[in-house]
Formats: sequence, structure tokens, C-alpha cells
Amino acid sequence: MVCGKGGSGKTSLTVLMAKILSKEFNVYIVDSDESNILLPNLLGVRPPKTLVEYVGGKRDEEVFERAKPEIIQTLSRAKGGIRLDLLPEEYVATSSDGVKLVTIGKVREYGEDCACPFNILAKILLGNLLLKEDEVVLVDTDAGIEHVGRRLEEVSDGLIVIIDPTAESMELALMLKKVAQSLKKKFWVIANKVTEDIRELLMEKAAEINLEIDGVVRFDRELYFSCLKKEELRSNIAILDLKEILEKTILAELVGKLAGRKSFP
Ligand SMILES: Nc1ncnc2c1ncn2[C@@H]1O[C@H](COP(=O)(O)OP(=O)(O)OP(=O)(O)O)[C@@H](O)[C@H]1O
Ligand SMILES: [Mg+2]
Repeated sequence: MVCGKGGSGKTSLTVLMAKILSKEFNVYIVDSDESNILLPNLLGVRPPKTLVEYVGGKRDEEVFERAKPEIIQTLSRAKGGIRLDLLPEEYVATSSDGVKLVTIGKVREYGEDCACPFNILAKILLGNLLLKEDEVVLVDTDAGIEHVGRRLEEVSDGLIVIIDPTAESMELALMLKKVAQSLKKKFWVIANKVTEDIRELLMEKAAEINLEIDGVVRFDRELYFSCLKKEELRSNIAILDLKEILEKTILAELVGKLAGRKSFP
């Protein structure tokens, strides 16, 4: 799960990580952010139909909660769980590098009830996934801590927290670290949008609160402008930094994990 404060760069870095990991893995991004809508642009794909539509549309939280077994059955086209590679093609958008996007659902109407049903659905999906050996799922979450309230962390392997150079984002990272520790999940922190003049102070402030930073991604004008233009994400600096971070931390962990995982036919 990729989490962190609003605007820290979760979506941008999720897309870049997916592109990097797609060289070795079959990568899925699960868009579990119920409000932002531009992830498909950044990935360079058309928005897929949402899983909420697939399971018959949004219903009240209680109804959705009660319908869990039925929803699992609808999503499971394989025995024993949900296989993303078996979802009908209109629910999966594929980028030019082969990254696949699955979207939970979006709040679009003024006065529409809360986003809880989307979170329930995200938890059902992630909690019942059957992954093949070469499949990796990155979950782009909504800003802040809604997913903590919903305990989405329980059904993920680990948390990648993106912080920007703000005290607030570091405090949130600390809180998420405690969640990860209590659930015995993997945990990494990536500092994003870091400029040379801020770097030292940021590291100092992180050390003061005992927040270990696993890697630093520099501010990337190319990335910033492509986001502003709603174009497919372009990056020349951030992607280099991220590659290095993935190689020394997350990728190493993933390869180790995959080596020990049972494969599905
Ligand atoms: N390394 C970077 N360099 C420059 N700009 C960046 C970088 N990473 C992200 N941004 C910019 O920061 C803004 C927020 O990025 P993004 O939408 O990825 O954040 P987010 O955490 O997903 O936001 P939200 O909480 O709204 O989902 C965008 O304008 C994006 O272009
Ligand atoms: Mg986002």
C-alpha cells in the first residue's frame, strides 16, 4: 500500500514504481482513492470501469457489509479467491509498459453518501486476492488515514509511506509506522519533492522523531509539469532516485518474498 499525507506524491510515485517494477513483474495498480480521478492520465490509459460497477453499484455501507460473501463470489472467477488476471477486460486498463490499472470506485455526486462502501470493497478485493508468482499489486490510497480506520493495512503485505518535506507528513508517517509494527507488516518511508536546500533540515527533523527515511526522491520539474498538463507521467530525476531506492529496499524484499511464495497455475 502506498500511503501518506495529501499531495505528498503517492499517485505519482505509485505510477513510477509500477513502471520500474513492470520490467520484472506483472504489475497491477489498484486505485483505492475515491476522490481523485487523474491516475489513468498519469499512466496514459483510459479509465477502466470501476469494481463498484462490477459488483452491482454502490449501496449503503451496511448493505455492502452484509453482501460480502456475495461480492467475493462475484469477483472470484477462480476457486479460492480473486484473480486479477481473470477480471473482464473493461475493468482493467493496460498501459504501454504493461502496467494494469484496476479502480475501486469514485465519489462523483454532490451529497452522495460517504466513501465507506469503496473501502469495504477495497478490503474485500485485497483480502481475497490470489496472486501469481510474478504479480505485484501497488495500492494507491486516498490521502491521510481513512484506510487506517478501515484497517486496509491488515490485508496488505506492507506500507510504503510517501512524505513530503513537511512536519505534518512526518507525523503521519510515524503513526503509520506504529500501525505497520502492530500488524507486523513491512514498512518503508520515501521522502519526496526534496530540494537540495531542504534536504539536510528534513533529515535532521526526521531523526529527531526517530523516523527512518529509506530513500529520497528529488523535486522533478518534468514530473510536475506533466502532472499539471494531465499528460502521461514524464520524469527524468524522480524515476532515477526511485529506481535506486527500489533496488536497495523494496525490490530486494519483493524478490525474496516471491521466491518463497506458492505459485498458482
Ligand atoms: N518528485 C516530485 N517532483 C515534483 N513534483 C512532484 C513530485 N512528486 C509529486 N509531485 C507533484 O505533487 C503534486 C501531488 O502529487 P500526487 O497527486 O502524486 O500526490 P498524492 O499524494 O497522490 O495526492 P492526493 O493525496 O491528493 O492523492 C502533483 O502536482 C505532482 O506533480
Ligand atoms: Mg493521489
